[in-house]
Amino acid sequence: MAFRNLIQALPNLDIKENWPLAPLCTLRTGGEAEFFVAPDSIESIKNLYALALKENYPLYILGGGSNVLFPDGLVKGIFISTLNLNSLEWRTNLTADVDAGFKLSTLLKEIRERGLAGLEFAAGIPGTLGGALSGNAGAGDHGVCELVDYVICLLPDGEIRTLNHDEISYGYRRSSLAEGKKIILSARMTFRQATPKDKDVLENFLLRRGSQPHGLHNAGCTFKNPPGNFSAGKLLDDSGCKNLCVGDAVVSDVHANFILNRGHAASADVLKLIELCAERVYERTGIKLEPEIKIFRKES
Ligand code: EPU
Repeated sequence: MAFRNLIQALPNLDIKENWPLAPLCTLRTGGEAEFFVAPDSIESIKNLYALALKENYPLYILGGGSNVLFPDGLVKGIFISTLNLNSLEWRTNLTADVDAGFKLSTLLKEIRERGLAGLEFAAGIPGTLGGALSGNAGAGDHGVCELVDYVICLLPDGEIRTLNHDEISYGYRRSSLAEGKKIILSARMTFRQATPKDKDVLENFLLRRGSQPHGLHNAGCTFKNPPGNFSAGKLLDDSGCKNLCVGDAVVSDVHANFILNRGHAASADVLKLIELCAERVYERTGIKLEPEIKIFRKES
């Protein structure tokens, strides 16, 4: 049977076909997803994952789309958004179960309203908890993974596995949760009682974010800071990358680690610009910058 018939036959799912990808990411670039679906139950995600594996069909998982670059053109495969898996339940005064599609900004607001703290470093970071966990999003030395007691994932064999904090390895903008084709479903997170100092810490993070570009579509920092106490933004700036452009993709003149879409940029333009910037820094310093943006490649 054609794959289209198989996927459309799955129960309780609203499968969209040839669905535009640009509105699903903050950069507003990319082509069309052959199939797009935003399930609201774990059962549905399990069914989709099992079908994709059985039929050897490409599968892409999306969170808030704030740190991604999609391919241009028609992309064969199923794009699954976790945005409809978005509940939060408090288990104790300090501990909550948070779904992968829950927005990080809403989580920060919620814990502050309860007089809790621990997530201040995430101030101004867009996206969902699932995306944040897979890349250990954060600022300074802090990342979201440090706050989890455990994470519940769907594994390729269909098993739902609870990974305890000490079973997850993570570091600067990386976590083992992104490996092995797991789908992050939810996490148990523990916060702490806030102190007056936490407000200052939060404001300080917001202040630093304030020196980054606002307004135009972008995907946050393009590159990771390389090891050795270097700042990617400064390296790019010193290498003359500000204002470099390919088509409508342009390097911000406010912060050189941001690429902006000033109109109708294609993902190919952004990719070219990423390469161009990395080349410039490499030629001047010998440092190889690694993209922080998650670049989706077409699978066959
Ligand atoms: N700088 C320049 N020129 C530029 C950009 C930066 O000289 O064009 C200098 C700044 O003046 C500063 C230094 O470089 O002295 C570092 O810049 P910044 O304070 O903006 O910090 P960053 O290392 O570039 C990191 C995270 C950001 C996070 C900020 C604030 C990375 C790659 N970036 O930026 O995260 O918002 O700290 O906490 O780790 C993101 O993850 O998408 C992101 C933007």
